[in-house]
Amino acid sequence: MVALPLVAAAVPVAMYASSKLSLPQDAHLISSLIGSKIAYSGIVKSDALNVTHRFDGSYRKYPDREALVFEGRSYTYRDINLASNKIGNWLLAKGVKRGDIVSLFMQNKPEFLFCWLGINKIGATGAFINTNLAGKPLTHSLKTASATMLIMDTELASQVANLLEEIQQMGYSIYSYGGPEQFDFATPLDVSGVSDADTPEHLRRGTTNDEIAMLIYTSGTTGLPKAGRFSHSRASVGPQFWGRFYKLSEKDRIYVSLPLYHSAGAVLGMCVAWSWGATVVLARKFSATHFWDDCRRNNVTVIQYIGEICRYLLNAPEHPLDKAHSIRLAHGNGMRPDVWNRFRDRFGIPLIGEWYASTEGTGALSNYNTGVAGSGAIGHRGALASLLDKGLKIAKFDVQTEELIRGKNGYCIECKAGEPGELLTLIDSAEPTRDFKGYHQNSSATNKKVITDVFKTGDKYFRTGDILRRDKDGYFYFGDRVGDTFRWKSENVSTAEVSEVLSQYPDCIEVNIYGVQIPGHDGRAGMAAIVAKPSMNWDQFAQYALKNLPRYSVPIFIRKTPEIEITGTFKQRKVELVNEGMDPSVIKDEMLWLDGHSYKPFKAAEHKRVVSGQAKL
Ligand SMILES: *[C@@H]1O[C@H](CO)[C@@H](O)[C@H](O)[C@H]1NC(C)=O
Ligand SMILES: *[C@@H]1O[C@H](CO)[C@@H](O)[C@H](O)[C@H]1NC(C)=O
Ligand SMILES: *[C@@H]1O[C@H](CO)[C@@H](O)[C@H](O)[C@H]1NC(C)=O
Repeated sequence: MVALPLVAAAVPVAMYASSKLSLPQDAHLISSLIGSKIAYSGIVKSDALNVTHRFDGSYRKYPDREALVFEGRSYTYRDINLASNKIGNWLLAKGVKRGDIVSLFMQNKPEFLFCWLGINKIGATGAFINTNLAGKPLTHSLKTASATMLIMDTELASQVANLLEEIQQMGYSIYSYGGPEQFDFATPLDVSGVSDADTPEHLRRGTTNDEIAMLIYTSGTTGLPKAGRFSHSRASVGPQFWGRFYKLSEKDRIYVSLPLYHSAGAVLGMCVAWSWGATVVLARKFSATHFWDDCRRNNVTVIQYIGEICRYLLNAPEHPLDKAHSIRLAHGNGMRPDVWNRFRDRFGIPLIGEWYASTEGTGALSNYNTGVAGSGAIGHRGALASLLDKGLKIAKFDVQTEELIRGKNGYCIECKAGEPGELLTLIDSAEPTRDFKGYHQNSSATNKKVITDVFKTGDKYFRTGDILRRDKDGYFYFGDRVGDTFRWKSENVSTAEVSEVLSQYPDCIEVNIYGVQIPGHDGRAGMAAIVAKPSMNWDQFAQYALKNLPRYSVPIFIRKTPEIEITGTFKQRKVELVNEGMDPSVIKDEMLWLDGHSYKPFKAAEHKRVVSGQAKL
């Protein structure tokens, strides 16, 4: 709050007059940003940029405070410090040096954190490998890490064993950790005789903006995972902001059921908790069945969600204890607007903190939401905040070519309030939160995300690949992923928007919308993979869809599916569905099509009529 009057003084007085300016919200955002900037410069001045200093700060303040609870076992900050020192000393004894990369293939468990901190304490970098991977995406991830040491969770040994020859050819030595089992292809990581003394301090001294704390991979929904370079500075400054914005403290108990190999769990879960001395209640993985019991039993005050998690929690049958918990904040990314208010009301969550940020990107948005106003928005910038932060732009985008539209003067065109476009975030290597570190050893993938001469000669922006719109009150809403939105009958169809409308139909459990090509037809036709309740009446559903969506957005095809595949970050997978198209001889699920005003079975004969152009779509 301190710095605000100074900033506000620069704003024309007339701007205060309008009630639309949302000054309290802006003030909270700006004071959090300023506070985190000041804290960050303190971190830089004291040469404490290495992210392990975030943990250390709390360890020194509260050595005997509970840092972690995992499956009923409790670990203090001191316990974790000693265990990670052991890993650091073990790594040093194995010849790992500052700047080296160590691949970590481990589920959510305390050993993950010991390794992570141990690796960073000696100035090395962890490559966090997605534990769901097998086959080609796994070997690709291990290869792009360019590491020679792999620490493997004993419970994931079979995924490694299946690819052993390839992994060994990459020059990896494999160590197993996290359980008693032994394997002939892996050396047990044994720290029993290793010192738990602090690792040499000089190994983290002089850490710069350029040093990478971890490689965090993209989920690879459209191709192979890319290794995003996550710097120590970003891992340090981000939590300074989020902690202030959501008012976190050492009294908070944060439930982390998101995978630690991803930035949501690692940075917004762990780094945030360490930065504020909070306790993390860690779950091996997300489970809708155990979620609330875990939170109640552990006095959780903050929960994290991502993607479709809140929908899964809502889909569970109501329970008399739904509101019996001490949760004050649910924060995360990707809560769909159709879920938002129902989630808040049913579970009695006072504060929803939806944020928008990408693992590797620059810039972020956040929504501090306590009621219906602003629900469904991924972020907010009032007039004052927009004036001060010019790093976020929504630019006109051509859905068909998937390119940004440039005007006669050659520059991109900013969208007006309400218009959808691609979100671009400023790249500025002088600012830790705006410094795009790119993908590890992949300059072509890195260059694809950067656009230059955007609004003036020489400027540089990160292409988020997300279509957003900002309303006149400053709320940002998610439109769709670039590439998901498709064109049909010369109209643009946002898969996210259609899905949001159809998901509200009571007999729909889950809906995944995508566009498919039909031979001989322009554009892509809408298709819905739907998990429906047995009581579903498809004719009534068709009426609902026709009433609530423009005709061109109503899915032409439906596949009744028992479940919808999701990514490790709880987002729906579309690629496989798009590739399978609309041919009933390929698709195993039962199919329907919109024939006039109702959904009718779609089999070989109907398919023939459609592709030959005889059927009216
Ligand atoms: C939760 O809070 C209650 C009441 O303050 C307390 O008795 C209990 O020990 C706490 N449980 C945990 C796991 O912290
Ligand atoms: C659809 O998107 C294109 C850009 O790809 C735009 O020119 C057009 O106006 C949009 N159409 C509608 C109906 O929104
Ligand atoms: C770089 O990324 C692209 C995807 O953008 C991928 O196809 C390619 O294999 C990557 N190259 C390397 C060397 O990993």
